[in-house]
Amino acid sequence: MSSDITATAAWQKLRDHHAALADRHLREFFAADPERGRELTVSVADLRIDYSKHRVTRETLDLLVELAEAAGVTARRDEMFAGAHINTSEDRAVGHVALRLPAGESMTIDGADAGAEVHEVLRRMGEFTDSVRSGEWRGATGARITTVVNIGIGGSDLGPVMVHQALRHYADAGIDARFVSNIDPADLTAKLAGLDPAATLFVISSKTFSTLETLTNATAARRWIVAALGEDAVAKHFVAVSTNAERVAAFGIDTANMFGFWDWVGGRYSVDSAIGLSVMAVVGKERFAEFLAGMHAVDRHFATAPLHGNAPVLLALLGVWYSNFFGAQSRAVLPYSNDLARFPAYLQQLTMESNGKSVRADGSPVTTSTGEIFWGEPGTNGQHAFYQLLHQGTRLIPADFLGFARPTDDLPTRDGTGSMHDILMSNLFAQTKVLAFGKTAEEIAAEGTAPELVPHKVMPGNRPTTTILAPQLTPSVVGQLIALYEHQVFVEGAIWGIDSFDQWGVELGKQQALALEPLLTSPEEPASQGDSSTDALIHWYRDNR
Ligand code: F6P
Repeated sequence: MSSDITATAAWQKLRDHHAALADRHLREFFAADPERGRELTVSVADLRIDYSKHRVTRETLDLLVELAEAAGVTARRDEMFAGAHINTSEDRAVGHVALRLPAGESMTIDGADAGAEVHEVLRRMGEFTDSVRSGEWRGATGARITTVVNIGIGGSDLGPVMVHQALRHYADAGIDARFVSNIDPADLTAKLAGLDPAATLFVISSKTFSTLETLTNATAARRWIVAALGEDAVAKHFVAVSTNAERVAAFGIDTANMFGFWDWVGGRYSVDSAIGLSVMAVVGKERFAEFLAGMHAVDRHFATAPLHGNAPVLLALLGVWYSNFFGAQSRAVLPYSNDLARFPAYLQQLTMESNGKSVRADGSPVTTSTGEIFWGEPGTNGQHAFYQLLHQGTRLIPADFLGFARPTDDLPTRDGTGSMHDILMSNLFAQTKVLAFGKTAEEIAAEGTAPELVPHKVMPGNRPTTTILAPQLTPSVVGQLIALYEHQVFVEGAIWGIDSFDQWGVELGKQQALALEPLLTSPEEPASQGDSSTDALIHWYRDNR
């Protein structure tokens, strides 16, 4: 049996501590501990993380660290860095930290030098993307490649999409990237609109090279190229990223134009592998190296910093604190950066596919809730949509606010004297302040508010937030942010005792879709699916398609 974390003394102490502290307000915490705003912060690489606006005292933090110790987080972390098969249900190592090792550093995974293998692939990726960026690699007609279309889904899409948008400013070779993922043909159709086949390169990204959406879209893209340029053009317009050379070859892509990775890289942990090829084509291998270096800096911190000052550990412990002791259901991620618009969606796969599990690694049922629900939108847009509920709703929703000292773009304010970016950041600071401290009925009444309106205007506060700041949204900082959340997910999974690296729960739906598809169009009356709802839905679709 995996040990049950809820049966430990550390858990029990936290439960008692929670009972004593749950009704206390952040106003009291700040009044009693005036230095906490400066001291309850942790820095890692370029990130400054303020966790003082959390419903914790210094004692809470000690107890949470005790919990991490009771869960054996350090040992588990060390096993990951040592290349052990900690993905037990798939009997695989979890080696994404090897993807960002500096050249010359090694990590042995399954008897091989993963660091050396990673750098060999990076070298090939660099050579290839250099040739695309310089115009040496040309399409079948001799035209330069101006658009790279990545076809992939899940981890083979969300990371590249997010990083590409985040690094918009670093696109310096006249190459744009588009991303196609959905089996809904609207996706491919919309993304191909306006593209010149002669100047388009497809990157087919799939770890397994068996994913229905990706192979179907890739086949449609192939038809699009062949219709415009002929069969012989395929070699110049298609490359693949995969762990499965046989399937790549069977699809008709020369494995000389395939960039590999390994089964020890989970899909949702793969943006820093060859899956990042489209990003590298747009920003260049040097910027991609900075991105990897940013991740590595956080890896070193995670591997070596004491638990009390270890940023991903602290943030994971706070996640556990709210999920398991306050009963919070979700966490909002609110980037005050339009270029990070896809960061919450990226985190949804990272966190929810990793930790959305009901059994522990040995198959025994968990005894507490797992898997925070991540969601969010960039500020300030979210302020005009769902923040009402954050401020005055009945639910407790801890939120991560992300912001930058320097903008990627800036424009003057209305009167021309200020900066729009300063307004953006003042909103971030205002929101976390109001969420924490609110405004009391007395304060509102003292402003002369009509008594019947006072209850509507009370801002309860005591809503916890983390503020993550960095100087600028650079490639390194994007890498740092990703690694920060990857390791949070790891620590939460270690505390819950689950395997954060498998995803069995996505399989049955895929199988059923394959089985149902012929029934939607077959001339015969479809066989009953065993439930009246599914049968009725299929009939409705057949009648109306
Ligand atoms: O269905 C879930 C999943 O297996 C993800 O874990 C993965 O990122 C995605 O599908 C895509 O898989 P692949 O890269 O093998 O096409």
